[in-house]
Amino acid sequence: MFKVGIITASDKGALGEREDKSGSLIAEIVEVKDYKVERKTIVPDEEKLILEEIIFMSDELKVDLILTTGGTGFSPRDVTPEATIKACNRMANGISEAIRQYSLQITPRAMLSRGVSGIRNQTLIINLPGSPKAVKESLDYILDSVHHGLEILK
Ligand code: MTE
Repeated sequence: MFKVGIITASDKGALGEREDKSGSLIAEIVEVKDYKVERKTIVPDEEKLILEEIIFMSDELKVDLILTTGGTGFSPRDVTPEATIKACNRMANGISEAIRQYSLQITPRAMLSRGVSGIRNQTLIINLPGSPKAVKESLDYILDSVHHGLEILK
């Protein structure tokens, strides 16, 4: 059983102005697989706050996997990839390449996600886009391979 942390990056979500459907959907999807959700949180689209949350989940909670949702697009407030890159010692570009490659078959707008994936010590971090639709499409495609990767990372 792998431990997972879920971070929703959303200004409106953090203010309570928007329901966190994507974070809840991630929890639903991973809980029926081999994962236990240790922490699920919403942070505003601030690089420093996203980075602090990633570091907390990785260094203190020692989760195996962090899934973020939102903040991967082109808005000036979209900074989730930048925070993720700062947190990682090794990038795992193939996961984000796979998400985009698969998603491009569904919508050309998948090219607009700047999401990255990488490793901080024993924690794998993966950026997912913000919409519930994109979350489901991405996770359906990557989860089996991610599980194999986590076994190797342990
Ligand atoms: N990926 C999938 N699989 N399905 C989608 O509907 N939407 C795209 C893209 N990736 C989408 C997707 C769109 S419209 C945008 S703008 C980017 O993700 C960035 O989304 P974000 O800023 O919410 O992270």
